[in-house]
Amino acid sequence: MSACRFALAAGVLLAAACATEQNSASTASPHLGKAMTDVELAFWDSAILIDGSNLPAGSGSSAQGKVVYQQKCAACHGATGTETDTRLTPLVGGRGSLATAQPVRTLGSYWPYSTIVFDYIRRAMPYNAPKTLSNDEVYALTAYLLQANGIIGEAAVMDRTTLPAVQMPNRNGFVMASENVK
Ligand code: HEC
Repeated sequence: MSACRFALAAGVLLAAACATEQNSASTASPHLGKAMTDVELAFWDSAILIDGSNLPAGSGSSAQGKVVYQQKCAACHGATGTETDTRLTPLVGGRGSLATAQPVRTLGSYWPYSTIVFDYIRRAMPYNAPKTLSNDEVYALTAYLLQANGIIGEAAVMDRTTLPAVQMPNRNGFVMASENVK
């Protein structure tokens, strides 16, 4: 049944094929691929919730993150993350710009939760080699980018306890769509 639900979501042609298979009351499996192992599943099932649930062990400081940033991030994001000639959203800056005519939406000025920074970097960066960073490196990079954005101090160490406690400047800048419905 769940395979059919996927097929239905994928489109009309597949939905038709699914209905045929269902009518023939044959096997429930489409016989595609193979079951993931627990190790493979753990590799992908790494979502960090906004309250910090699922954050892994490990830690990192801004000073450590600065070193990793120069090695693995600066080529695309610029030496300081403030550069605007990279054609990417700057990683640093933009504080106070959101309500102006030219808002600069960086992770520092815009993102509502510090935990998203960790989750995003661990999941997606470096763009050319995602999921190659150690958890310590991701904590350090997160610390560096939060510090560069003036959100935490230079001495702060980020780990599974300290990171969720970081209050982002735009934390209360978002409203739920339902709150706007009159
Ligand atoms: C090969 C180029 C490349 C490298 C190296 C790279 N990035 Fe990125 N980064 C990108 C691109 C492209 C995007 C935009 C991706 C998108 O919008 O889907 C991005 C987006 C981001 C964002 C989200 C920015 C925003 O506000 O939308 C963060 C944070 C980030 N990168 C951090 C890092 C960190 C930390 C590293 C080093 C570990 C890194 N990146 C290395 C290309 C790169």
